[in-house]
Amino acid sequence: MASDIIDPEDIDEDFSAVGGLQQTIDILRNEVVLALSPSSVYGASKLLKPPKGLLLFGPPGCGKTMLARALAKECDCCFINLRPSSFMDKYYGESTKLVEAVFSLARKLAPTIIFIDEIDSFLNSRSSMDHESSAVIKAQFMTLWDGFVQDPTAQVVVVGATNRPTDVDRAILRRLSRTCHIGHPDERQRHQILQVILRDELQHRDLDLRRLGAETGGYSGNDLRELCRLAATHALQAAQSRTVRLRLHAFFCFTFALRLYLPLSCHTHGGVPSDDALAEATCVAYGRLSSSPPRG
Ligand SMILES: Nc1ncnc2c1ncn2[C@@H]1O[C@H](COP(=O)(O)OP(=O)(O)O)[C@@H](O)[C@H]1O
Ligand SMILES: [Mg+2]
Repeated sequence: MASDIIDPEDIDEDFSAVGGLQQTIDILRNEVVLALSPSSVYGASKLLKPPKGLLLFGPPGCGKTMLARALAKECDCCFINLRPSSFMDKYYGESTKLVEAVFSLARKLAPTIIFIDEIDSFLNSRSSMDHESSAVIKAQFMTLWDGFVQDPTAQVVVVGATNRPTDVDRAILRRLSRTCHIGHPDERQRHQILQVILRDELQHRDLDLRRLGAETGGYSGNDLRELCRLAATHALQAAQSRTVRLRLHAFFCFTFALRLYLPLSCHTHGGVPSDDALAEATCVAYGRLSSSPPRG
């Protein structure tokens, strides 16, 4: 349980590390960050309250978990990362105590964000518990949550994230009244994500991130980060295999990485690069490297 409580100081990413999600960031800033800040004008009206529940939903790898952590950082508030397994794999008595502990801690440490990642697996029929105990814990969880909703002074926001909103328990969905869809990034968003991922890296001057954004249709933010990692790794390997001295990260072999890396969405459709394709990509990439010496 202690490991589930995260100090915002220990979170690396803030909103500036999240690319292409400006609209969602604006919503979170206006409705949550501002509401939880100590000098907030929110106290001026009874209507001005943070949402008690917020759901981030959309396909995997597009930044939901990252956004929730960045939110805690921006709010500079306590972040309880509630893993469904810490409840559902316990004995019934232990689980109910844990639920109580979470809510009393959240109140004591307020302002607090209680984050439930993959909330679809939380308190549903797939848990290892028998149906009856699971139903009691669910009811207890929601009663305590409602206690916050009715208390105007409680500064606790429950944030859930899921790839499968349709699997989330109806009663829980109702309480997560504010929803933000985090979809697959479009071309402009991919360009912005690449800019964020590579913002501290030395880049080859021929590298055109706008074009790379256009060439990476179907890639999620996670795919783009993997692509950059692969390109950096191969740039380093290429530098070592020739005696050309390359500054680390100075030359990103994106042509190579693009051929080698298939986004997750392609894997799920059964597309895996063949050995021949990998070999061909390797030759092309290294051939290109030797004919155009890095100028980074
Ligand atoms: N919008 C984004 N901007 C920058 N990096 C991103 C973005 N989306 C995903 N990533 C990268 O992919 C990783 C995985 O994303 P994550 O937040 O776990 O996705 P999700 O929770 O939606 O499955 C992040 O840690 C980050 O490195
Ligand atoms: Mg996630």
